[in-house]
Amino acid sequence: MTVLEKEMILPNGSILKNRIAKSAMSENLSNKNNEPTATLIELYKKWAQSGAGLLITGNIMIDSKAIGEPRNVVVENRKNFGMLKEWAESVKGTNTQLWAQINHPGRQAMEPINKDLKAPSAVPLKSGGRKNATKKIPIALSESQILAIIESFGNTAIILKDAGFTGVQIHGAHGYLVSQFLSPYTNIRSDKWGGSLENRARFVIEVYRKIRSKVGRSFPIGIKLNSADFQKGGFSEEESIEVVKILSKEGIDLIEISGGTYEAPAMMGKRKKSTIIREVYFMDYIEKARKITTTPLMLTGGFRTASVMKDNVASNQVDIIGIARPFALYPNIGNEIFNKSQTNFNTKIKKTGVKGIDGAMNIIWYEAQIKRLGKGKAPKPDLNPWLVFIKYSWLILETKLIRNKKTSFNKL
Ligand SMILES: Cc1cc2nc3c(=O)[nH]c(=O)nc-3n(C[C@H](O)[C@H](O)[C@H](O)COP(=O)(O)O)c2cc1C
Repeated sequence: MTVLEKEMILPNGSILKNRIAKSAMSENLSNKNNEPTATLIELYKKWAQSGAGLLITGNIMIDSKAIGEPRNVVVENRKNFGMLKEWAESVKGTNTQLWAQINHPGRQAMEPINKDLKAPSAVPLKSGGRKNATKKIPIALSESQILAIIESFGNTAIILKDAGFTGVQIHGAHGYLVSQFLSPYTNIRSDKWGGSLENRARFVIEVYRKIRSKVGRSFPIGIKLNSADFQKGGFSEEESIEVVKILSKEGIDLIEISGGTYEAPAMMGKRKKSTIIREVYFMDYIEKARKITTTPLMLTGGFRTASVMKDNVASNQVDIIGIARPFALYPNIGNEIFNKSQTNFNTKIKKTGVKGIDGAMNIIWYEAQIKRLGKGKAPKPDLNPWLVFIKYSWLILETKLIRNKKTSFNKL
């Protein structure tokens, strides 16, 4: 047995059967009404057989008025409880934990498909890692709107717990709302929600406490947190370490480390080569975090070889290995790592050669592979990127039309 196969006991006593986790990947597989679908459930049945100890869903939106992508699942009430239960049951009999990642995109909500954008402050997105990232000025949230969003995080979490998910993860990374509050670049508020780190961290702490009050102590809560924004004037490494200290003290069960925003997509490896240590991103940060917390740490970004994964757990730097893109191309990756039938999980992506489009390809090409898995098909490494782009553009247009129609209908 290698270190990767050893179980991990989380602070609340819940157990992950091994050290391999599928990190969140937006599946973009809801139906037109942002409800879970059979394809999505089939996908998770497949991944449940991957051998991973933990599967974290793609980001589930807590508010239908703020969605990141056309086909994100939204959970804001119990309307689709039956389908959510089926989704949670996809891991049945495998002893694999299935955690739901919950998110509010804030100013990174996709402009064409959202009426307004809400954010801590009216700081617009400059340019995007994705073609359709918005440049619209967001509306700064009022105090009562902030409190309502905190309530919504708790509401979504308890619905998912009741449906049978075995944990939740707060999306506190990648420039979405929680990370917008943390960052002095996007949060320029002068009330108790902005300014000092203590004030900027208030939102994530209140979200955590609200969820905890709803789900209880025995239900795992994790967070995906930026090691930094990788932007001038943004959330820094030193501040991130302070937030790790705070959340550890609060009793969070797992901290996953990533980094970057749509404006600086470090999570996808867009960083200086010198800061990528032996294929892994954010390694320098995790060494510092390890020294100041005993909370289990998961690191995501760049893991591609079984030996590097093993070394990182063996040297005690990381507790859980977070893997995203390889799960789209090697859906049996956990078992392959453990039985050593495959040691290298390269992800070479097909590109169009057009810079603006290829930024988005890093996401949408993988989503197309994920959809194939949900449809019971094998991954297709030579999948045509142009086809992917055209289909995705159509999806945005279609969603825009549907949402506009709904809005005008509601006005009648
Ligand atoms: C298709 C796709 C969708 C993603 N969606 C999410 C998401 O919903 N939530 C999240 O925290 N990260 C998301 N990510 C980022 C990954 O979780 C991960 O941080 C990143 O891909 C780096 O890990 P990797 O090198 O193992 O792929 C997504 C990545 C991809 C490729």
